[in-house]
Amino acid sequence: MIFVTTSHDPAEEQVKKAKKLANELQIPYLPRKDYPNICAATQGEYCYVVEKNRLVVKSESGEFFFHPSMAKVRMKNIQKGLKDHLIECLQLTGDEIILDTTLGLGTEAILMASFLDSGTVIGLEASTPIFVVVRDGLANHRAKENWINTAMRKIQVIHADFKQFLRSCEENSYDIVYCDPMFENPVFESSSMNPLRPFAVYDTINADDVDQMFKVAKRRIVLKAHAKDSLFRRIPVDKIFGSRRSQVFYGVIEKK
Ligand SMILES: C[S@@+](CC[C@H](N)C(=O)[O-])C[C@H]1O[C@@H](n2cnc3c(N)ncnc32)[C@H](O)[C@@H]1O
Repeated sequence: MIFVTTSHDPAEEQVKKAKKLANELQIPYLPRKDYPNICAATQGEYCYVVEKNRLVVKSESGEFFFHPSMAKVRMKNIQKGLKDHLIECLQLTGDEIILDTTLGLGTEAILMASFLDSGTVIGLEASTPIFVVVRDGLANHRAKENWINTAMRKIQVIHADFKQFLRSCEENSYDIVYCDPMFENPVFESSSMNPLRPFAVYDTINADDVDQMFKVAKRRIVLKAHAKDSLFRRIPVDKIFGSRRSQVFYGVIEKK
């Protein structure tokens, strides 16, 4: 069963937030005092737990909550003078409207948003639990670093499957379209991704999807894949950025 509950001894606001979420998702709200063992109550599915300062999805395979820690690590590396291959290949001027078709944890959306002044990032996520948790985190998480708070509030999140969404968009609606599907060859050492895996959607990109991205993008498309994945063997790109050490590559298709 999929349901919403709170942590033990919740404050009134937690109960209110949990009931509102249950109502939005059209799933039951279960008072925590009646369900001390929530994992058993999920019966192989998952539940949302409204904690004091965060929203957590719990299932027998683990828990998933929002945290911008990887964006912080990547920004620290940029400040040290190291290359970030995504930021390098985006060639941002600051006013771009970026469509991030695979929001996930929101790490790269935060990083991209931090390089925008008047621009914004629109993030799509097909998985309901990932969408709900990351939407909540981007709106309510308070980081010590101001740049993270500013970047998070610049991201607009939409619960949508990018395949359908792209087909409903007008030509040239966004400056850049970014797509980072789940790797065909997962890097389990990438521990920040591990909690998301049980809840993720595992769609792959095909040539027709790329045609749609090309239609929707004004300037360029950026696709991400692992070196062992088939993506860049199936889809021709203009230029590939990345490092052999990490085995993670970004392929760019320029519009003009
Ligand atoms: C590798 S993760 C993206 C990570 C993200 N770049 C970040 O920095 O956190 C891929 C995400 O895309 C989502 N996804 C997969 N197929 C999708 C689709 N058709 N539409 C929207 N989201 C999709 C998955 O559920 C997952 O959350």
